[in-house]
Order: sequence, then structure tokens, then C-alpha cells
Amino acid sequence: MILFLRKTGGKMKTGKRSSCIETRLQLLALVGLLASPALYSPQAAAALVERSGKEVVETGCITCHGTGVHGAPKIGDEKAWSKLAARGLSSLTQSALKGIRKMPAHGANSAHTDTEIERAITYMVNQSGGNWAEPISRTAPPARRNGEQIVAAQCVKCHQAGAGGAPRIGDREAWIPRLKNGLAVLVRSAINGHGGMQARGGLANLTDAEMRDAVIVMINADRVPDNPKKAQK
Ligand code: HEC
Ligand code: HEC
Repeated sequence: MILFLRKTGGKMKTGKRSSCIETRLQLLALVGLLASPALYSPQAAAALVERSGKEVVETGCITCHGTGVHGAPKIGDEKAWSKLAARGLSSLTQSALKGIRKMPAHGANSAHTDTEIERAITYMVNQSGGNWAEPISRTAPPARRNGEQIVAAQCVKCHQAGAGGAPRIGDREAWIPRLKNGLAVLVRSAINGHGGMQARGGLANLTDAEMRDAVIVMINADRVPDNPKKAQK
């Protein structure tokens, strides 16, 4: 960490002392905020993004609703599903969440969010002659997602390889000039979208705080001091 700060200082041009010190202070603050060196775990990425109805059905509900086990309304059975659909999404969701007779609560998978259950029902309705719109997330997920998870799930898509000129994760030389007006301004820019980047990096339900965490991770990543190879460079 200290090595890094010195190196950064050495690279700065002389005439711009005050902004150089400012940048250093910001980087120092960023270093302090870096929580965990564990980056890009695929599990973390999976937990972040809500699944589509198709995915939820094909990895779960289909075990019963594919064949009609225990009298489950079969996917594609227009008669059965149009009768159910007439009751509306909220009524069906309620019974799918609570369970009804041989239908287990949450389709036997407590990991499904309410929105995922709604999407799965919508998908089955639509596979059975219906025409419902897939429900969108009503709120941000309850647990705040950490920067590593967000970066791993979304920002890597462009910031790992630098697609479209995106500053690469851990590429200090690319990030330092972008920090010249401060971290808050940089985060705001990522929230609003900037050049080739959509607002919030294309993940509309990220909160401002989550965006900030993700930006901090991208600036700091790859410079995690306990990676011996990197430390030698
Ligand atoms: C273990 C088997 C099983 C799994 C897995 C399962 N279901 Fe069901 N489901 C049933 C059965 C059986 C019924 C018929 C219940 C009844 O009316 O007696 C049913 C009925 C339903 C109904 C109609 C409820 C009502 O009010 O009539 C909905 C909606 C539904 N399931 C959604 C889902 C969703 C969404 C999933 C996946 C997340 C899922 N189910 C997974 C067995 C299952
Ligand atoms: C579809 C590709 C793409 C994704 C996904 C993406 N970015 Fe970007 N990002 C870019 C590009 C391209 C730029 C460079 C834009 C420019 O400077 O013109 C950029 C620039 C930025 C900047 C610098 C903005 C500035 O004002 O200099 C930040 C901060 C940033 N991205 C954060 C994020 C975060 C956080 C995520 C994940 C939530 C993310 N990005 C996801 C493409 C992407």
C-alpha cells in the first residue's frame, strides 16, 4: 500500500502540487475503504442479478409443472392456465409463496425472491397461451450488495478488457486523471452515464452507495497488497 502511494507520487508531474496531494489523499481514503481482496466470485455475481422467469422455471418449477406431478398445472395446458390467469398475478403469487396443497411454498426453493416467483408464474402463463409482461424489480434487493459483487456481476463486462475505452479495473494510470475532480464527481458521472457507458453501468437498480463502492473497488482492485506477484513489480 505504501509502495503504491510512493510510486504514484513519483509519477506525478511537478508543477501541479496541490492537485497531486489531493489525489493522493483521495487514493489514501480509497485504500482505507477497500474492504476485501476477494474479487469476482461467480457465486457473488449470481446472487446479485435476479433471474428471469424462464430461468426460474427451467431450474425448478419445471420438475412438477413440466409433467403435471400431483396435479400441478402443466406448462402449455392452456385451459388450466387460462383459468388460473383469470385470478391475476397477485393471487397466484400469494399461493405460490405460501404453498397450496401439494405445491410447496416458494416452489420448494426459498432462495427465490418474490419477483422471481412472479416472473416464473408469468413465464408459465405465457407458455400456456397467456400474454403477460414480465414483472420488473419493485425495489432494490434488501441487502446492500458490496462493491466486489457488483463489479464481478456487471462492471467487468466492459471494465475488465477496457471495452469501448472503459478504464480498466486496477489500471491506475487510467483512473487517476478521472479522479481529478474528486471521487464524488466520478461516482456521479458513473451514475448518470458517461460517454459509452449507460447510467449506472446498465444496472438500473444499483443505489448511489452501491455505485460508489463499485467504483472504489475498480480503482483499487489488482493492487491488493497481498498478491505477491503484483507487489514485486
Ligand atoms: C414439488 C412440485 C412443485 C414444484 C417444484 C412447483 N410447483 Fe407449483 N404447483 C404444484 C402443484 C401440485 C400445484 C397444484 C396445487 C393444487 O391446486 O392443488 C401447483 C400449483 C401452482 C400454482 C397455482 C396456485 C393456485 O393458487 O392455484 C402456481 C401459481 C404455481 N404452482 C407456481 C409455481 C412456481 C412459480 C414454481 C417454481 C418457483 C412452482 N410452482 C414449483 C407443484 C409444484
Ligand atoms: C457496457 C459497458 C460498460 C459497463 C457494463 C460499465 N461501464 Fe463504466 N465505462 C464504460 C466506458 C466505455 C467508459 C468510458 C466512458 C468515457 O469516458 O467516455 C466508462 C467509464 C466509467 C467511469 C468513469 C466515468 C468518468 O467520468 O470518467 C466510471 C466511474 C465507471 N465507468 C463505473 C462503472 C461501474 C461502477 C460499472 C458497474 C456498475 C460500470 N462502469 C459498468 C463502459 C461500461
